[in-house]
Order: sequence, then structure tokens, then C-alpha cells
Amino acid sequence: MIPTKILIALTKGRILEETLPLFEAAGVVPNEDIRQSRKLLFTTNLENVDMIVIRGADVPTYVEFGSADLGVVGKDFILEYGCEGFYEPLDLQIAKCRIMTASPLSDTVLSGRVKVATKFPNIAKRYFASKGKQIELVKLNGALELAPSLGLADAIVDIVDTGKTLQANGLEPKELIADISSRVIVNKASMKIKNTIISEILEKLREAVKAL
Ligand code: PRP
Repeated sequence: MIPTKILIALTKGRILEETLPLFEAAGVVPNEDIRQSRKLLFTTNLENVDMIVIRGADVPTYVEFGSADLGVVGKDFILEYGCEGFYEPLDLQIAKCRIMTASPLSDTVLSGRVKVATKFPNIAKRYFASKGKQIELVKLNGALELAPSLGLADAIVDIVDTGKTLQANGLEPKELIADISSRVIVNKASMKIKNTIISEILEKLREAVKAL
């Protein structure tokens, strides 16, 4: 019988540094150094497991539509994308940070129709709607911290880790929207059809997380 093959979609960037050791502890090791390569698809020490390395924002799409069976992605992208299209069986407890609102140090309470710049329009929309606040969204793809000082927005909704980026740009964190960490997500059909191998990997990852 041909062994069932699975494809794991990893998020590139900072998360990757913390993800690879967990997979290594779980017995899945890429055949070359992912960090040093320009390749996007990697074989691993396991004949039936391959990995791709893509942007976090794209991981939910690959997994929902079954192009990848399993993915590692920040909860921020899951919240933004919506969590209906796949299972989310495991919190890897890595790449922990927060999604917060932030605004200039001098601002006290923002009132009226506030302009909010963010990479996460759905999260921002939902959050302010839950507070009964009307906002005007400005969708940006990075360097959000510039938006208030350049008059593009009154506040931002962004990832805060150490808080240094906010501080360096004259902003301060205000309201906590969600605590974030990296999650394993699994395609719904793959979970049934390829259950043996996926369950095995999940179990080993779970043990690796416990040992952190
Ligand atoms: C994130 C976020 C902030 C920064 C926060 O950006 O958008 O800019 O990290 O980290 P800090 O609180 O430790 O300063 P990231 O480096 O992930 O790059 P991106 O903006 O391109 O997504």
C-alpha cells in the first residue's frame, strides 16, 4: 500500500524559529535547513511528510481547501480568517503576543468616529462593534505605527510583543483584544482520511509542547 502522504504548511518568519524545534522533538525534521533556503517545498526525514513555508495569512486558506493537510499559524490569522473551515486541535504555546489597540501617548479617550489602521480588519471590526463603537477602517499591510503620526488614523490594532515598536513610535498599548499563540490547524477531510498519521503527529507535538 502507498503510504498516506501529508503536507504541513508552516508560517515563515519569527514563528518558524520556534516551530521547527517542536517538530524536531516530534520526530519530523526537514531534509535541509529551511531558514537558509529559498525553496518553498521541503521533504522531511519521514517519507510521507512534506512541508511548505508560506505567509501566515495564507496558511488557513491552504488548510481549509485541503492543499495542505495540517498548518501552523498564529491565532491572529485564525481570528482574522475565521475558524469554521478547519479544526484547531493544538495550542503550541509559542510566539505568544497580544492583539491590542494602541494610540498616541497624548490621547486620553478617543471619541466620535475613530479612524483605525490595521492589518486585521475583521478582528478590528468585530472588536469595536462589540464595544458599540463605530470606526472607519484603514487597511495597511505593515508599519502601522506610522499611521497616527502621519494623520492616516487615530489608533491602530496590531500585534504587541515587547511593546518596543509602539514605544519607539510614540504610541502606547490601550485595550487588549486577544492573547495570541501559534496553533496547529487541520483540514477537516484530512483528519478523517489521514487520521492515523495526523493523530500520531499531533500526539507527539502535544508531548513536545508539554516538555517546553
Ligand atoms: C509585529 C507588529 C509590530 C511588532 C511588535 O510586526 O506588527 O510591528 O511586531 O513587536 P514588539 O511589541 O516586540 O515591538 P512584525 O515584526 O511581525 O512584522 P510585520 O509588521 O511585517 O508583520
